[in-house]
Amino acid sequence: MKVKVGIVGCGVVGSGVVELLLKNKEVIAKKTGIELELSKVADKDWKKERAFHVPEDLRTTDYREVIESSHIVVELIGGKGFAKELIKEALQRGKHVVTANKYLLAEEGKELFKLAEEKELCIGFEASVGGGIPIVKAVRECLVGNNIKSVYGILNGTTNYILTRMFQEEVDFNTALREAQEKGYAEADPSLDIDGWDSAHKIAILSYIAFGNYFPFDKVYVEGIRDIDLLDVELGKELGYILKLLAIAKKREDQLEIRVHPTFLPEEDPLAKVSHVFNAILVEGDFVGKTMFYGKGAGAHPTASAVVSDLVDIARTIAYGFPCKQRVRWESKELNITDNFYSRYYLRFDVPDRPGVLASIAQVLAEENISIASVLQKEKVCRLARKEGQGIIPLVILTHKAYERSMQRAMEKIINLPVVVGKPVLIRVEEEAE
Ligand SMILES: NC(=O)c1ccc[n+]([C@@H]2O[C@H](COP(=O)([O-])OP(=O)(O)OC[C@H]3O[C@@H](n4cnc5c(N)ncnc54)[C@H](OP(=O)(O)O)[C@@H]3O)[C@@H](O)[C@H]2O)c1
Repeated sequence: MKVKVGIVGCGVVGSGVVELLLKNKEVIAKKTGIELELSKVADKDWKKERAFHVPEDLRTTDYREVIESSHIVVELIGGKGFAKELIKEALQRGKHVVTANKYLLAEEGKELFKLAEEKELCIGFEASVGGGIPIVKAVRECLVGNNIKSVYGILNGTTNYILTRMFQEEVDFNTALREAQEKGYAEADPSLDIDGWDSAHKIAILSYIAFGNYFPFDKVYVEGIRDIDLLDVELGKELGYILKLLAIAKKREDQLEIRVHPTFLPEEDPLAKVSHVFNAILVEGDFVGKTMFYGKGAGAHPTASAVVSDLVDIARTIAYGFPCKQRVRWESKELNITDNFYSRYYLRFDVPDRPGVLASIAQVLAEENISIASVLQKEKVCRLARKEGQGIIPLVILTHKAYERSMQRAMEKIINLPVVVGKPVLIRVEEEAE
């Protein structure tokens, strides 16, 4: 059986999908009994250099030709404007869709999935989270019998590369970012990555499928790594922690925390060992326990691998009439999403080097029921901060678990203490044991 596949958007991922479908056509046919045949590939500009040569007879600049000639339309343009209209038009015209567009699905996916459901068509989106890591399929199919307790991990390779370089080479944020751009790991405008939005889109999509409920994307708390000071990376190292940009969705009683922020992890945590551009996701279910998925979260080839897994699933539905596994069902019930997280905290204040300073900060924390776990030795902090221990010095406090709102109230009070100079640093710490 032949299933016709058309692609709109032939950039990094699009040309990777063309390459895979042409090079591994027989491998796929042998394993599935289905021939995935490329019908048409649309892009705005065919003069542009591509990593893989697309045969002339497949090329077009008219997306309608792709819809017309295919059973499955693959959207690989990106963004929310034309990509959304294209997907709607393909569904309206009875075509299944595969997309890697996390931005669109996280923010406006509900409308598209509803339309697909009405039309009894599929939208495959394995490639939208974790690149080549088969996390969408794992959560939706393999772990479907579990109540998911948490899904969290490193979902953005660019920021993981930057933080790895800061940790390993002790270079500052701007130097590490420049290096990431030179190596092609970061865009010229890196804001979607470094400000946490890319991770937020991915954790939103994972939460929709893990917890079976849709929620508005603006419920996700997002904080990026732009303001991370090398000093805190080094102080974390001194304390046995490694800094990562974590995307976290975690159930606590009947509430769900969904958040993206820089996070200290103990160096023995499996996620702390995930370096450079690699991604990893930990999923915990009530029956399966903890499972971890690791691999390349981006790039032409890994992402193409994920796109093709969706293509094969949908092609099997077309060829053999299996019920479509790709459909997402939205429960009408909204999740109870809380911004009152429960976490440990690393705090750093610039303070005068004199007695009584710690006591005044500790008192404010105590008023908010936040207990101090440890205070980093002044000599160590001063050495790393390259300060002499005279005048203004950094004071580092680690707390036990506390509620976010209490912590924010405490920080507002501490900022106004006469002993605190400048803006304090607050980094959350994920640690199993208390
Ligand atoms: N790159 C990755 O590693 C990766 C990983 C996972 C998911 N994704 C997702 O995959 C999607 C594609 O990413 P990408 O990195 O492949 O982007 P890309 O390299 O910028 O490719 C997009 C291509 O679509 C073309 N295009 C734009 N508007 C078009 C239109 N109206 N009609 C036809 N073609 C059009 C672009 O042309 P112009 O350049 O001339 O505008 C470009 O060639 C995005 O949603 C992204 O988030 C990417």
